[in-house]
Amino acid sequence: MISTQDISKVIAQSQGHVNEQDTSLIVTHLPALNERLAFLSDSFSKNTLHAIAVKTNPHPQMLKHLVDLGYGLEAASIEEVNMAIAAGCSPDKIVFDSPVKTRSEIDCVSGMTGMLVNVNSLGELDRFPANPTCVVGIRVNPQVHTGAPEMFDVSRNESKFGVPVSNAEAILEAALAHPVQALHMHSGSQMKDLEVQRQALISLKQLADQINTASPGQIHTLDIGGGLPSESLSESTRMAEYGAIVQDIFADSQYHLVTEFGQWVHAEAGFALSRVEYVLDQSRVFIHLGADFFMRDAYTKARPFALNIWDDAGMQIQGPESNFDIAGPLCFAGDYLAHGVALPADTSEGNWLSIRSTGANTYALWSRHCSRTVPKCIAFDGEKTTIWSERTTINY
Ligand SMILES: Cc1ncc(COP(=O)(O)O)c(C=O)c1O
Repeated sequence: MISTQDISKVIAQSQGHVNEQDTSLIVTHLPALNERLAFLSDSFSKNTLHAIAVKTNPHPQMLKHLVDLGYGLEAASIEEVNMAIAAGCSPDKIVFDSPVKTRSEIDCVSGMTGMLVNVNSLGELDRFPANPTCVVGIRVNPQVHTGAPEMFDVSRNESKFGVPVSNAEAILEAALAHPVQALHMHSGSQMKDLEVQRQALISLKQLADQINTASPGQIHTLDIGGGLPSESLSESTRMAEYGAIVQDIFADSQYHLVTEFGQWVHAEAGFALSRVEYVLDQSRVFIHLGADFFMRDAYTKARPFALNIWDDAGMQIQGPESNFDIAGPLCFAGDYLAHGVALPADTSEGNWLSIRSTGANTYALWSRHCSRTVPKCIAFDGEKTTIWSERTTINY
């Protein structure tokens, strides 16, 4: 967890960067991010490619940081492929997973040597040339329920993602008829039941083995997706447990493994700051980040973000507490970040509210609703802050 001292330092230093239009700030904590990335790498065998999901936090400086550390990038659209390339990612560390690739997008990526391009359906294979230099993979729907929340569960029988594993015969036939060299599976976000996921991985490997029995060495890469919920790094993490399961299943195999984690990497490595603009009736605080930044939280179930109040000098305000609802700035009734949270009773206009664990699926989902300006993004390296991007207007 990002320490109180570090949030204090960022607020104190940000006085040099902010003016009165900076009503909120989006912060990346680089030491926390780097620690998580190292933990991820240590949990899997050394030759695994970790392609971090661009959609979770697509800030160009973030992508560059990940690439500079040697990580790959998973792109959900051709725009994200282009962003990955612009960040310096070599094509053989990019995974392209869009479920609606156009013919011209496929023409373009077919020649990107080493890029892993996963098809969403067997029909999509017909759009590829006979000898692409990218690595073509088939997304397989493992048809399991790992406990992911319904909206993020992509592995049910009726899922729009991938070819159901129950169609193994059709997958085998298609793989033998096309230049397929990889299989892909992403069971869904926030998986809870790793034993179910173990079975899904075993069925993916069996399918690859089956293809290789018919055509030796054809499948060389297995992309096992992402999907672990965010967690703090402790002695017994799900990530370490999952890495051990993966190593157990693939220990004796030659497959090159690829992962696509998003929120596990990013969520805990970021926090946000908003000015308190109004305090009404000692029970409602209005801030400058709402459903535009916390889109998923406003429209589904809000994550339990840890909230604290600070003064301009970076001193945490403490003392007797009252319960407050935290209202966002957008003009619709559902724009609340939290209800009934305990904050210092004398929280007042001009204070900073810090919101922890905001690194994933926040900036990435920035909404145009009410056309508010995307805040300044800054990075903290443990000592000093750097501006990653200035405030950006989105309405013209
Ligand atoms: C294909 C694919 N890979 C990876 C991810 C990242 O998932 P997570 O953030 O749960 O790790 C997603 C998320 O939607 C996805 O759709």
